[in-house]
This record gives sequence, structure tokens and C-alpha cells, in this order.
Amino acid sequence: MNESILRSALAGLPVAQIHYFVETGSTNDQARMLLEQGAPDGTLVVSNAQTQGRGRLGRTWVTTPGAALAFSLALRPSMPEQNHLAFFSPLAGLAVCQALQLEYRVAAEVKWPNDVLINRRKVCGVLVEASWLGSRLQGVVLGIGINVGLAAVPPDDQVLFPAACVEQALGRPLERVELLAAVLRQVFSLRSALGSAAFHTMWQEHLAFRGEEVRVDWLGPGETVDGQVLGIDPNGNLRLRLQTGSEISVAAGDVRLRPLRTGL
Ligand code: BTN
Repeated sequence: MNESILRSALAGLPVAQIHYFVETGSTNDQARMLLEQGAPDGTLVVSNAQTQGRGRLGRTWVTTPGAALAFSLALRPSMPEQNHLAFFSPLAGLAVCQALQLEYRVAAEVKWPNDVLINRRKVCGVLVEASWLGSRLQGVVLGIGINVGLAAVPPDDQVLFPAACVEQALGRPLERVELLAAVLRQVFSLRSALGSAAFHTMWQEHLAFRGEEVRVDWLGPGETVDGQVLGIDPNGNLRLRLQTGSEISVAAGDVRLRPLRTGL
């Protein structure tokens, strides 16, 4: 991968600027810095390797050079989009799911709120961060990390959730830039549906563990709740039926979700 290969693979997409790094700390940090310096909506940062890749909940995200995709898209949401900021995170996960399904015929699911699973193993993580100047939103950064090749897959004993890669499911090698272009096509297409009923329907249709028992861990207070996944409510919260029969909605945030019964 290099900048000119990226440019031709992404031609025709509404990407305003492309910044390619052979190695950087975190593409999210680069994208946020660019936003702060006035970079336009649709500024893309891609790196072959990250030395300080970050995951949700303060975790580390490892990007294996040559085998993983790590990129961040800096957006400047319009006023109407600012009413749906919380949906940028599922948008990113959904875009990866749709790209895999529509362009590669690989069945993928969203582990609420936004991890992407193939055959119940995580192939993609999403970290969306907003950048504020006081109470004014400067922009949002959609950070997406995808395990493309086998070398990007961490062993089961080193991760909280079992991982896999796209090439395993596809059964053939895959050019990372090709997948990047496919995901960005879906990002821009879903962006126009942000917060709509159609967006909500797509998210629910791709929801993993529907009808199954899961455990939700609240990482701050250390609480845990078990319940059956019913779906996603209009605010993006996960709807669960508890063993008592009552229903609750869980807000995304400092929560971790895992299935109670797994064949893995
Ligand atoms: C998670 O699963 O916890 C989210 C992982 C997000 C990783 C991506 S890789 C590109 C971008 N840069 C980062 O430092 N993190 C995100």
C-alpha cells in the first residue's frame, strides 16, 4: 500500500484528503489533529502500522503491518447529523458488515454496539471519537481496525473475545485497499440514512446474538446482567429480557457484551 495506490483505489469517493503513514501512533489521533488544524469533512488517515493503536474502553489495539487495515475518517457533521451523533459508531460497524456482505458475499454481524463478527469471531473494531472546542463540535473521527490476513489475528488467550480475519472467511487473499474502498462506499451511503428508520432496521438485521442469552458487564461499577437479546430500541440501546421476564434497555458506553453459551 502507498499513497498513490490509495488515491486510485479511492477515486470517485467523497474523500477530501488522504494521509498515508507507513507507521504512526494512532490514526484516530492523526485525524483529530487534522480536524483541529481545519481539515475538511472526509479527510482520511490510513496507516500500515500503529504503535499506539487504541480500542474502546482504554484498551490497546494491535495493527499488524501488511495484514491489517487501520484507518480513520474525519467528518464534520452537519447540524441535522449532530442530532444523531451517537449513531456514527454503529454506522461504522454496519458499513463494514454491509461491505463484507454486499461486495464479498461474506456473512457478517454487528456485536452491539459496533464490533463486527464473522462466524462469531471478531474481525473488526470501531472507535469513534468526537472533537469539541468548548461546546462547539469540531468533528467526529471514525476509527476502524480490520483483521484482513491471518497474521493480524491475535491468539484466543490474548483477547477478551475470540478473533478471526476476513481472508479466512473469504478463502482467498484480499487487497487491503480494495476492502477499504468497499467500506468507505458503505460509510458514505449509510451516512445519508443516519438516524432514519431504514438505518435502524439495517442495524437490527445485522445484530448478533438476537434471541440468545448474553451477559453485559458494566465496567465502571462492576455490575453484570444476563438477559435475552430482543433488539435495539430507537435510541440505539440494546433491549434485553431478564430472567424475571422484565425488559431493560442498556445504553452503549462502558459496557462489554458476550454470549453466555458459545460453541467456540
Ligand atoms: C475496539 O474494538 O476496541 C476498537 C478498535 C478500534 C481500532 C481502530 S484502528 C484505527 C483507529 N486508530 C486507533 O487507534 N483505533 C482505531
